[in-house]
Amino acid sequence: MKVLIVYYSTYGNTYKMALEIAEGVKKVDGAEPIIRTVPELIPEKIINSREDMKRGRDLQKGVPLVTLDDFREAGAIAFGTPTRFGVVSAQLKNQIDRLSPLWQEGALEGKPAGIFVSTSTLHGGQEMTIFSLLPVLLHLGMIFVGVPYSVKNLFTTKGGGSPYGPGHIAGPDNLRELDEDEKAILRSFGKRLAEIGLKLKKS
Ligand SMILES: Cc1cc2nc3c(=O)[nH]c(=O)nc-3n(C[C@H](O)[C@H](O)[C@H](O)COP(=O)(O)O)c2cc1C
Repeated sequence: MKVLIVYYSTYGNTYKMALEIAEGVKKVDGAEPIIRTVPELIPEKIINSREDMKRGRDLQKGVPLVTLDDFREAGAIAFGTPTRFGVVSAQLKNQIDRLSPLWQEGALEGKPAGIFVSTSTLHGGQEMTIFSLLPVLLHLGMIFVGVPYSVKNLFTTKGGGSPYGPGHIAGPDNLRELDEDEKAILRSFGKRLAEIGLKLKKS
């Protein structure tokens, strides 16, 4: 079963989160992580004028753009986004708005899905961002998956991560690396999503 990890990332933090989720998925027999990104909306001229944006883009060179078939073939889906003024990024939302054909087919109904998010600041809106995507998952008929408190790192994290989904605090310069609690939460989430996907998989 394929677990689609579809994300947008300007500076690379959300991308690094996707890699950790993939590690969690790999722990489950019969589950395979598929990492995909979405079309960029920032003009190339602006990206090329910023060292931090160029670094983020270069880090993700080679990650394919997601296709509708990636969504159709997935048994479970993780959506990743940086927070933009407390809600989902335009880039990920733009991709979500291209899912209308799948909505009409009911292709995503019954599939488990969760959301992971990166912010600059501690109280910058990780939970708000996750909740900003909840209506989307419900409209598409997906089953929302978070992170239960049996994942003990939820008690100790000084960065991101909550019962609503994995999170990362990238810091004001977007250079703060994932810490051990954040990584553990991301991996547990990937494992859980894969296990639930396998349980729900239509035989
Ligand atoms: C337009 C814009 C709005 C943002 N809004 C927020 C915000 O509401 N809260 C916050 O903590 N960070 C905010 N940020 C910072 C981003 O969330 C941060 O750069 C991102 O998590 C880094 O992830 P990435 O490396 O995957 O791009 C904003 C950044 C931009 C460009």
